Amino acid sequence: MQSRREIMRAFAAGVGLTAMPAAVLAEAPLLDPTPACDIAGAPTPTATTGPYFRPGSPERADVTEGRPGGTPLLIGGRTLDRNCRPIAGALVDLWQADDAGRYDTSGTYLRGHQYADDDGRWAFATIVPAPYRFRSMHIHFRVQRPGGPVLTTQLFFPGDPSQDRDPQFDPLLLLTPIRSGATRAGHFDFVLA
Ligand SMILES: [Fe+2]
Repeated sequence: MQSRREIMRAFAAGVGLTAMPAAVLAEAPLLDPTPACDIAGAPTPTATTGPYFRPGSPERADVTEGRPGGTPLLIGGRTLDRNCRPIAGALVDLWQADDAGRYDTSGTYLRGHQYADDDGRWAFATIVPAPYRFRSMHIHFRVQRPGGPVLTTQLFFPGDPSQDRDPQFDPLLLLTPIRSGATRAGHFDFVLA
């Protein structure tokens, strides 16, 4: 199992990001300590919690529990305020379906939470989820600044054709994934009200 430090390092400087197009790199705050911010005043949209949230997920960065299967995915970004300033210590709680579109409803597979670092950075090692029923590929999040309200939302994957039948799909919640070998990396900054 990868440590949080290893995952953060891989996300920030290693897996995938070196292959990102220049236009994407320019938008990747993880690579720039003082990024330009064009999202001021617009908090991240909410999305439904759905039936599969379970409280009490483990605190960790690798939610795969060492199980084989699925396409590895590094997902990360920052937690920002509406002025694009990092929010240190924000809670980021993730839960998602596996590569067959199933949720672990009795254990903790593909579930976990962590707290953003001093620069507001967070990152998880997970796998690419499969769509299920009318739902397109998505990963659920609950994000909360210390002492603040909870933002419940979902992130989606560009190019997923099942978005056409997903009433919950929101293009404002698209990840920026890229492929690098067998691993994908996706970036998203949560902006909290
Ligand atoms: Fe879901």
